[in-house]
This record gives sequence, structure tokens and C-alpha cells, in this order.
Amino acid sequence: MKSERTLSIIKPDGVEKSVIGDVVSRFEKAGMKVVAMTMLTMTDEQAGGFYAVHQERPFFGELKEYMSSGPVVVMVLEGPDAIDANRKIMGATDPAQAEPGTIRADHAESIERNIVHGSDSPESASFEIPYFFPEL
Ligand code: CMP
Repeated sequence: MKSERTLSIIKPDGVEKSVIGDVVSRFEKAGMKVVAMTMLTMTDEQAGGFYAVHQERPFFGELKEYMSSGPVVVMVLEGPDAIDANRKIMGATDPAQAEPGTIRADHAESIERNIVHGSDSPESASFEIPYFFPEL
């Protein structure tokens, strides 16, 4: 298995629900290392740049507004197959479809307020990691 890095964000609903510790603990227990971490509040423009791939989607405006509505925790996780491992731990984007025991099944209330974001491919990770951590 190859060692990879992936970007993870605990979204405003995750911070609001006080599940930062639970989320990070799930990643660490699965063998991933947190190699960078910061808490910040995105501007609408910063959220729009991050989610530029979704700019034609009908939910883009709401997504930007929501992601800039409060503090988020942004981190880089490193470990074997970290991109897929992170996605399995998060569960499906829509919590109604997420496997029991995943972060989204346990904590998320809707497809928008779904607690966490994770890079969905190596290409996404190589855009998303330097977006927040240009020094890495
Ligand atoms: P995320 O993994 O951060 O990537 C894009 C986000 O857009 C996704 O999680 C959801 O929070 C959000 N999203 C995806 N589909 C919808 C939708 N149909 N309505 C609202 N938000 C959505």
C-alpha cells in the first residue's frame, strides 16, 4: 500500500457540534497521521475557490455560504491509501446513504451539513492540500 496525503476539513457543523476530537480520533485510530492542522473561517471567495469544481452546480451559492458561515478545521492526513481510507471513514456524501459507523452516518444531518470534507482523488488532493498549506 502506498503512503498518501489527503485534505480533510471539519465543516462548520462539525465544529458547532463539538465533534472535532471524535473526528480526529477516528482518523488516528485508523492509522493516519495528522501532518498539518489549522482552524480558520473561510471567506465566501476562499470557499468558492476551493469548491470551484462545483461552480456550475445549483447548490454552489449555498455551499459557499455554508462553508464560510463559521470556523472549520483544515488538516492534512497521511497514511497508507489515505484518500480512500478517509472516504471510507467519512461515509457517503449524503448521510442517508452513509454506512453505519461512519462519521456522516453518526453525526451528519443533511447532504450540505455533512460534517466533513475529504479529497476524492489524488488530483483533488494535489489541488486541495496546497490551497491551504502552500508550504507542504
Ligand atoms: P464535499 O465532500 O465537501 O464536496 C462538495 C460538497 O457539496 C459536498 O460535500 C456536500 O456538502 C455539498 N453537496 C453535494 N451535493 C449537494 C446537494 N445536492 N445539495 C447541497 N449540497 C450538496
